[in-house]
Amino acid sequence: MKRFKMLSLLLVAILVVGLTAGCGGGGQQSNNTNTQQEQNAQPQQNPEPVTITYRAGKDTSERTQMLIKQFEEENPNIKVDFQEMPWSTDDQHNAYVTALQAQDSSIDVVAMDVIWTAEFASAGWLLPLGDKFPQSERDKFLSGPLEAVTYNGEIYALPEYTDAGVLYYRKDIISTPPQTWEELMEMSKENIGKNGIRYGIVFQGNQYEGLVCDALEFIHGNGGDVLDSNGNVVLNSPQSVEGLKEMVSLVEEKIAPEGVTTYMEEDARNVFQQGDALFMRNWPYAWAVVNGDDSPVKGKVGIAPLPHGPNGKAGAPTLGGWNLAVSKYSKHPDEAYKFIEFMCSDAGQKTTALVGGNLPTRKAIYNDPEVLAKNPFYKDLFNAFISARPRPVSPFYPQISDSMQINFHKALTGNITAEEAIANVEKDIKSIMGK
Ligand code: GLC
Repeated sequence: MKRFKMLSLLLVAILVVGLTAGCGGGGQQSNNTNTQQEQNAQPQQNPEPVTITYRAGKDTSERTQMLIKQFEEENPNIKVDFQEMPWSTDDQHNAYVTALQAQDSSIDVVAMDVIWTAEFASAGWLLPLGDKFPQSERDKFLSGPLEAVTYNGEIYALPEYTDAGVLYYRKDIISTPPQTWEELMEMSKENIGKNGIRYGIVFQGNQYEGLVCDALEFIHGNGGDVLDSNGNVVLNSPQSVEGLKEMVSLVEEKIAPEGVTTYMEEDARNVFQQGDALFMRNWPYAWAVVNGDDSPVKGKVGIAPLPHGPNGKAGAPTLGGWNLAVSKYSKHPDEAYKFIEFMCSDAGQKTTALVGGNLPTRKAIYNDPEVLAKNPFYKDLFNAFISARPRPVSPFYPQISDSMQINFHKALTGNITAEEAIANVEKDIKSIMGK
């Protein structure tokens, strides 16, 4: 019995010593005398830097590089490998789909267009982020961009910046911007051939996603719609046809250059920046660039809400924007999250607004005096921005967009009528959505 007691005591003693030694890493004991233990813990405090890969579309400003530099300075244990992708959102989309389908673990941070959330989330390619992004944080964001990162009630990305189509105009030539597309055509006709102006308007007419955004602005801005609030396809209406016709007439009547049917954002921006066009439809990023020191139109540009059609009451900008997600196949999800949290923080968004000109998704940045001094239009156009119209939300959006891209482009290049284009798209969307 005595031997048993002795043995038990010994066992307890061994256990206590063992436990005390075991908690040296995090407990208060770690501060005192056990130097051997602290030496062992050293490598954990200064681990080899982790490199995360961040793929995103081409940046026309310095903002991405600036933000990465700042993040790396604040987080010496994380390096960011920025892999710049092509300009077109469609090319970026296809590259991501190929990589994520193959469960490629070399991408950590996915820069996502607002139209991809449903598709990527339903494919299971993204880490759900809801747990890390509490309601108190969500409340600081604008509701449109927040909805655009939500799918089936879960959050799959943080809203980096938002987008809405705007009308750029030459304020040195036009004192009051047009309210309707018809007024825009008249002003264009009056000014083509004067002051170096060769074209009325430049926009995104190539067969790609940008054309979908622009065409929907003509359709929505004339009272047409793609889906109603119950998700029924209602595209084929006289309002939609008339809206698309107005867009086509800009090409037919040579208000836009012939080449506009091959233009993406940067093509339009280049022509406008050279001083050749009176108006440009583009996203807010172009503001910083057309006012750059080397821009021939620096200081001569105004921004206004988009015009509307005869059946519409106000311009109807398309909701765009980009969000940052963590790939489910990332081997460094914590570091990747840290990076996207930084990019979407107040400080990150302020740099994005000041250097890139992109619209913040955090409400507070719209009241920042420095940001407003650089981008005065944030205040004037705020209501237009927050009422921007989303494109149809569906995991099948790529197919829906394909049909719009093909048919709207055919209408723009005179191969089919606006009536035919609208009817074709309606038929396709119904079959894609199984309606
Ligand atoms: C902008 C928008 C994006 C849109 C794209 C079309 O990048 O933010 O939502 O799909 O333009 O070109």
